[in-house]
Amino acid sequence: MQWIPPINPKRYHLDELLTARGINLDWLNSNDLDPHSPANIARYSITKAAEVIPFHYRSAIADNPEVQAWLTELIAQACDDQAGRGAPTAAITHGRSLLLLGPTGTGKTHQAYGAIRELAITGVAATWVVTTAADMYAALRPRHGVDSETEFRRYRNASILLIDDLGAERKPTEFTEEVNFRLINWRYEHQLPTLITSNLVPKQISERLGDRVTSRLIEMCQRVVFKGADRRRGEAA
Ligand SMILES: Nc1ncnc2c1ncn2[C@@H]1O[C@H](COP(=O)(O)OP(=O)(O)O)[C@@H](O)[C@H]1O
Ligand SMILES: [Mg+2]
Repeated sequence: MQWIPPINPKRYHLDELLTARGINLDWLNSNDLDPHSPANIARYSITKAAEVIPFHYRSAIADNPEVQAWLTELIAQACDDQAGRGAPTAAITHGRSLLLLGPTGTGKTHQAYGAIRELAITGVAATWVVTTAADMYAALRPRHGVDSETEFRRYRNASILLIDDLGAERKPTEFTEEVNFRLINWRYEHQLPTLITSNLVPKQISERLGDRVTSRLIEMCQRVVFKGADRRRGEAA
């Protein structure tokens, strides 16, 4: 872990988030030169999160109580694990996954990126990989000069993985089915926290994703169902 100099909260859209979570900027920028200090890990994570969070969601805050409860549990588990192992830093290694379901525009992706931003400011270490399911399939398609198995392991082994819009394609192919199964099965068996969003309604899940994936998702995930109108269409929708 490298030492990260004090950061400008405006650059990372942190003002509201720090206030909402009662985190003091002086703590975040405390200059103790210890790379393993929670404040340094938070600064490091904030810069890393900013690299993966799309511009549109740069200031997202996860205000959903169930998403908050999931975060609290993950963080508590990381801290218990740290105490148990006498480790210098708390890190997310294992935990429950979260499945955010609901129609288009109800705020699923917003909550997912808000959760990543929030984890970053806590000083608990995590490395995350974020992708839409469609981008992941495109990145994994066998093609000349690309070792898709190495690429697959990057998703498979991420300490936190966000898969946005799983099950969106109307016609699953053998290829997407195999990727879904191998990925979900690995993360299920190793209890790696995975954040999944999907437009599917619960009864469509096994239709689109198959029984083997669905059964694992049911066991590994806390489910949050979003309702309401498409926020992108405004009040009139
Ligand atoms: N809690 C929120 N506060 C402010 N804007 C939000 C909130 N939730 C969603 N939005 C905005 O509403 C739109 C739809 O949200 P998004 O998360 O992209 O929906 P979904 O992923 O469910 O399709 C986006 O423009 C997003 O920035
Ligand atoms: Mg979305």
